[in-house]
Amino acid sequence: MTGHQHPSHESAEEQSPGEGDAPEIPSARRRDDVRPWLLYGAYGYTGRLLAMEALRRGHRPILAGRREEPLQALAHELEGRTPRGLARELGHPEAVAHRREAEHAPGVDPEAPLPRSEWRRFSLDHPGTLRRELEGVSAVLHAAGPFLHTAPPMLEACLEVGAHYLDITGEVPVFERAFGLHQRARDAGVVLLPGVGMDVVPTDAAAGLLAEALPTGRRLELAIHSPGGPSAGTLKTIVDGLPGGLLVRRDGRLEGASPGRREFRREVDFGPEPQEGPMAGRLGGRRSVAPYTWGDLATAWRTTGVGHVTCYMTTSRWQVRLLPVALPLLRAAMSVGPVRRLARRAADRGPAGPSLEHRRTGRTRVWGRMEDDERRWSEVVLELPQGYRFTAVAGVRALEEVLARPGLRGAVTPAGAFGHGWVLGLPELEVVERRGFGG
Ligand SMILES: NC(=O)c1ccc[n+]([C@@H]2O[C@H](COP(=O)([O-])OP(=O)(O)OC[C@H]3O[C@@H](n4cnc5c(N)ncnc54)[C@H](OP(=O)(O)O)[C@@H]3O)[C@@H](O)[C@H]2O)c1
Repeated sequence: MTGHQHPSHESAEEQSPGEGDAPEIPSARRRDDVRPWLLYGAYGYTGRLLAMEALRRGHRPILAGRREEPLQALAHELEGRTPRGLARELGHPEAVAHRREAEHAPGVDPEAPLPRSEWRRFSLDHPGTLRRELEGVSAVLHAAGPFLHTAPPMLEACLEVGAHYLDITGEVPVFERAFGLHQRARDAGVVLLPGVGMDVVPTDAAAGLLAEALPTGRRLELAIHSPGGPSAGTLKTIVDGLPGGLLVRRDGRLEGASPGRREFRREVDFGPEPQEGPMAGRLGGRRSVAPYTWGDLATAWRTTGVGHVTCYMTTSRWQVRLLPVALPLLRAAMSVGPVRRLARRAADRGPAGPSLEHRRTGRTRVWGRMEDDERRWSEVVLELPQGYRFTAVAGVRALEEVLARPGLRGAVTPAGAFGHGWVLGLPELEVVERRGFGG
């Protein structure tokens, strides 16, 4: 899509299914596929948002997870709700809650009470059971993290039963594992699309946009500014990921890095500050950032072909100064099982995730910069809804897109598979600013 050579594998989109040496896709997986899809981890904080967004848009996913009681409770809670009511609970603007055609799938009556959802309880621990439970399912949207533990069995089962796999991970090893299964996914005629949340959907679009703006680009930087606290599940995922240390991509390869490196000491301009509303003074302007192991270290390279990628998140100045000492200590501490378990328990004692008010009013900014060897550069700033609300929207739209593209197969990135224009067309996502020099 950018003129760069795809680093790992050829285009995932086939001219048409069944042509050339591509394996024939069974007709049941074509556009008219009527098989249900399954949402695993449906009663987690983000899983619940995904369930509401899916139902609101007229889907009837099978709600699944490893415990019966919360599944039953979720199915009960959602029964009789209306698409419009779910839009409000997600925190979508009133305009969305009231818009009949644009935001509700065609044929969805925003006031019609929803029927009871089917639910299935099964754990990921027994491959045979897992396979049986996925038989006849068109796709799995996997929301049960940390994915470091939950993605491997689910990926395997999806490949075996021929179901598409999507997840909301931001964990680099999980992306790498999925991309390592590219050929198997092609042979099985399925799509593996990890990372359909706040990380990496908008950042992948920023990467794609910048590669298009500066085709000679050699170095890519990406930063996320998402004010507000993470969910308990995200905290536990960070705890489990800490022993992996800080990563960057250099010459196409992932490598460990010390957070104290001079090159990481930088500020990022997140664009004009909103003049009013709850985000005024909290979203734009120059902000200090710290290097962070976002999933884009796995995806941006595959989307753009640019082998030098560094990722950041905003953080306070004093945290930036503390990081070179604190990160190695935290990393060592979290490598000890009992300490890690204590930290996970502490995360569980906090709130499950951001409040409705925060989902409703919060905004996120994404910044990206591409540079080439001639000192030309291009920057972009995107704005999107609060991260967990955005994840619900992006996850469901990505699933719709996979089901609507029967020629797509293999392990793909969001912008690589659908184009960055698709991402930029998602609701409430906008390009705030584009800057460039010499490009
Ligand atoms: N990339 C992004 O932008 C993005 C956005 C949002 C969330 N996420 C990620 O998504 C994941 C979920 O977040 P959350 O906020 O929804 O967390 P959460 O509220 O803690 O929910 C986690 C869910 O996963 C289930 N689960 C965990 N380990 C499991 C296992 N081994 N087998 C089966 N089920 C398991 C939990 O079930 P039990 O309650 O039974 O343990 C629960 O349903 C986290 O990894 C988070 O980092 C990423």
